[in-house]
Amino acid sequence: MKIVLLGYMGSGKSTIGNELSKKLSFSFKDLDKEIEISEGKTIPNIFSEKGEIYFRKIENIKIKNLIETSDDIVLATGGGTPCYGDTMDYLLSCKDVITVYLKSSLEVLTERLFLEKDERPLITHIKEKEALNDFIRKHLFERGFVYSRSNFIIDVSDLSIREVVKKINDALF
Ligand code: S3P
Repeated sequence: MKIVLLGYMGSGKSTIGNELSKKLSFSFKDLDKEIEISEGKTIPNIFSEKGEIYFRKIENIKIKNLIETSDDIVLATGGGTPCYGDTMDYLLSCKDVITVYLKSSLEVLTERLFLEKDERPLITHIKEKEALNDFIRKHLFERGFVYSRSNFIIDVSDLSIREVVKKINDALF
């Protein structure tokens, strides 16, 4: 089984994915980290040196490669992963893939991403919290319908990591 966690930047995909994989004794992979390893560059450097379109192509190739070559895995994606090319259709078409959308409120995402925006090239340039809130709101409006095609939707806004892991486990097994 391949459990693929989807959701906006800052929704906790990597942290929750890591904990979930331990609980299930599955392996854990983080798509951004895998891309950084194979490209030999950080995500901000890939964006600045090669551009976003290049990143989106690599992201699409890499997720398919990971799905095709792994068993019993929890995979944390990047916030934009399912929103480009045929990635979401591909994930939904794989019989052994379960997609889980970690849905977080605009308020929680804004607070979290305001502190972590320097690692994220799409929002690094946004200086004010209000402008960041505005950006996320619009971006979520565009991306939300893709995330919502997931097999499971878990509202994570008010839950601890442990509670989210339990919810996913209860939903899946
Ligand atoms: C992106 C999210 C990032 C990373 C890249 C682009 C996005 O991953 O893939 O900066 O388009 O939302 P996280 O969701 O892990 O921050």
